Amino acid sequence: MLLDRLGRPLRDLRVSVTDRCNLRCTYCMPAEVFGPDYAFLPRAELLSFEEIERLVRAFVALGVRKLRLTGGEPLLRRDLPDLIAQLCRIEGIEDIALTTNGLLLPRLAASLKAAGLQRVTVSLDSLDPDIFGRMNGRGVHPQRVLDGIEAALRAGLRVKVNTVVQRGVNDEGLRELWLALREQAVVRFIEFMDVGNHNGWNLEAVVPSGEVLARLSDDGTGAEFRPVNPSYRGEVAARYRNAEGHEVGLISSVTAPFCGDCSRARLSAVGVLYTCLFAAAGTDLRAPLRAGASNEALQALIAGVWQDRRDRYSEERGEVTRARKVEMSHIGG
Ligand code: GTP
Ligand code: 5AD
Ligand code: SF4
Ligand code: SF4
Repeated sequence: MLLDRLGRPLRDLRVSVTDRCNLRCTYCMPAEVFGPDYAFLPRAELLSFEEIERLVRAFVALGVRKLRLTGGEPLLRRDLPDLIAQLCRIEGIEDIALTTNGLLLPRLAASLKAAGLQRVTVSLDSLDPDIFGRMNGRGVHPQRVLDGIEAALRAGLRVKVNTVVQRGVNDEGLRELWLALREQAVVRFIEFMDVGNHNGWNLEAVVPSGEVLARLSDDGTGAEFRPVNPSYRGEVAARYRNAEGHEVGLISSVTAPFCGDCSRARLSAVGVLYTCLFAAAGTDLRAPLRAGASNEALQALIAGVWQDRRDRYSEERGEVTRARKVEMSHIGG
């Protein structure tokens, strides 16, 4: 089995299919930076579906079993259901998921399902129209995301919801959001992270997951929640259930980093391989691919990168400062 320098296998691959997004979440693509003049990647730079498929096959040969499509907003990539159908045919993949802001799900959910997709993860930070409108940078109403979730469920997709929590921004409405969604979806609250170079992160804006759990409970202590065993090794979200069986997930990259089990590789829309969400640089796979490299050569290149890997940024946070990090919109979280 292929292991990195810290003994971690390569199990998950997250593939970004576009760096564009129809929202401008302040913690990801702030509108001041990603404005009308921002230079997004030209189309010819993006990996084609055939190129993505070839690289995914190379990763699967090296041990990848889980695939997630991300962006930017992946549903902005034209004909995405075709890519999903292509990837679903690859033997060895056990799970394919998609991270989306949900806005295009009313239009696309049925064709995603028909292509073979089983589940989606939808980002939604608040049910308060003012708060959500501010956080998404475009004044978009939360009902539009709820409509997307509804469309996904109607199409037969399982749904998880990701909520990034920022102190003083959306932390008052967490219980309301969880109560409204918990029957239909698994809600996960994410500690605000210092991804990219533009989101103005500071530790004071992080609400520790322990505090989130307390805020969700009836008595404000969190005592009613019991931890649930992880459903797979290296699960990012720590899951909890209350006595009625209602589940919640907490993603605590700041207060309880999970690098020790991190088996995730990330491929950008232009084919750069990153071995950490906070990486300063990656390895270009597109150049060798377009120069005609064989499958064996691609696998050897990827294997070499993985074997050299010693990333554990979330565990080192505070000790290391990094001048430049890959943008979230290039690797999709
Ligand atoms: P499931 O397969 O549904 O369990 O998905 P997941 O939780 O692995 O993936 P998802 O993309 O939904 O992860 C939710 C969020 O957790 C991401 O958007 C990131 O913000 C954060 N996250 C995921 N993977 C990592 C990671 O490797 N490191 C850190 N620091 N954060 C991560
Ligand atoms: N901190 C935590 N999570 C983030 N995401 C994007 N930026 C951040 C950040 N700074 C999450 C979003 C979405 C996924 C793409 O990544 O909630 O679910
Ligand atoms: Fe777009 Fe998702 Fe980033 Fe928000 S978090 S700007 S929806 S890619
Ligand atoms: Fe993996 Fe990097 Fe996240 Fe740690 S910080 S869990 S090494 S992606």
